[in-house]
Amino acid sequence: MNDPSPVDARTSPSSVWKLVEHLKGDDLVAWRMADLPGRRSAEERNLTEPFPFGWYVVCYSDELAVGEVKPVRYFSRELVIWRGEDGQARVLDAYCRHFGAHMGHGGRVVGNDLECQFHAWTYDGTGAVTGIPYAKAIPPQAKRANCVASWPVCERNGFVWVWYHPEGAPPKWELDTYAEVGSPGWTPFAKFEWRVYNSIRNLFDNTVDTAHFLYVHRVASFPETEIVIDGHYLTSVARAKMGTTKGMVDGAIVVRSMAPGQGCTRFEGILETLLVNVLTPVEKDEVHARFAFTQPQAEADGPMGGLARAIIRDVCKQFDQDKTIWDRMRHEDQPLICDGDGPVMASRTRYDQFLSDEAFEQAKGKKQTIRTKARSE
Ligand code: FES
Ligand SMILES: [Fe+2]
Repeated sequence: MNDPSPVDARTSPSSVWKLVEHLKGDDLVAWRMADLPGRRSAEERNLTEPFPFGWYVVCYSDELAVGEVKPVRYFSRELVIWRGEDGQARVLDAYCRHFGAHMGHGGRVVGNDLECQFHAWTYDGTGAVTGIPYAKAIPPQAKRANCVASWPVCERNGFVWVWYHPEGAPPKWELDTYAEVGSPGWTPFAKFEWRVYNSIRNLFDNTVDTAHFLYVHRVASFPETEIVIDGHYLTSVARAKMGTTKGMVDGAIVVRSMAPGQGCTRFEGILETLLVNVLTPVEKDEVHARFAFTQPQAEADGPMGGLARAIIRDVCKQFDQDKTIWDRMRHEDQPLICDGDGPVMASRTRYDQFLSDEAFEQAKGKKQTIRTKARSE
């Protein structure tokens, strides 16, 4: 009898597909957020640089009801979020300045303030103590703002955002508003999330790393892209003719990024789609990524519904494929670059402005345009 044929270990069409293609439904959702046992340390993977400053999402607006208190962990810090009776979201460091209780687990909303569950001290959104029910006087230093560190909060585009700056400098820019979000003709957000075991910097390089699209995502080709870096903004426009049953259509993918955690992508042409793609660092080697999609309701409900869902599925699949690499790679400070690589170093220089106030000031008003060539296999 012949030996059974050896197992075919070839991994066509792309090796990373093998890691994720068998995952479907709830298994895929769980994989995206799962821990990764046996991870190498942040030091070994060279993922130790500080978090970049900017606005970052801490939750969706509809995840925080009036009177609700939530614990979250971002920037290697324990935080507590609550929504007061006035509807405002507020964020403080989670540990009470009295005896250190974690107010995200048991604290409650009283009026617009947060009451610690241990001895009922209350804090306002500035982090000042507003009441101690069993004391005759509040200690003077407890009455000051930031007795517990407070975080600037902004609620926009269906998200609660906090401003992170390592030295506590105030926000340096305002968040953009996306008209589609919450408008009557557009679908409620379709939401997806991942835990990626890498630094936010390495995820940031992905957009301009043009070569990987051919090998990781197996796109047959992609069009010339124009990238404009203007201060802290990056806009990238890729235009292409797209074949449809109704003939060729002018299509475009327009990326608009305000800062490392704040991305927005519009797919235009066949079917309009707005993707708000936001990243929030959890640790030096862990990022919480959220993708929120909205599309015209009439398209999503009509004959184009299948295509509408396919666009979303494909974008998420690409992120799954990237995650398999991001989770294990290390950061190369000085990558060996070849002539076919995209403008990775320009993107890295842009990123650096979010690490130092000086670099941020220097980048203001400076504009550069980069064109990447069309590629195909
Ligand atoms: S520890 Fe919070 S009130 Fe005592
Ligand atoms: Fe990618």
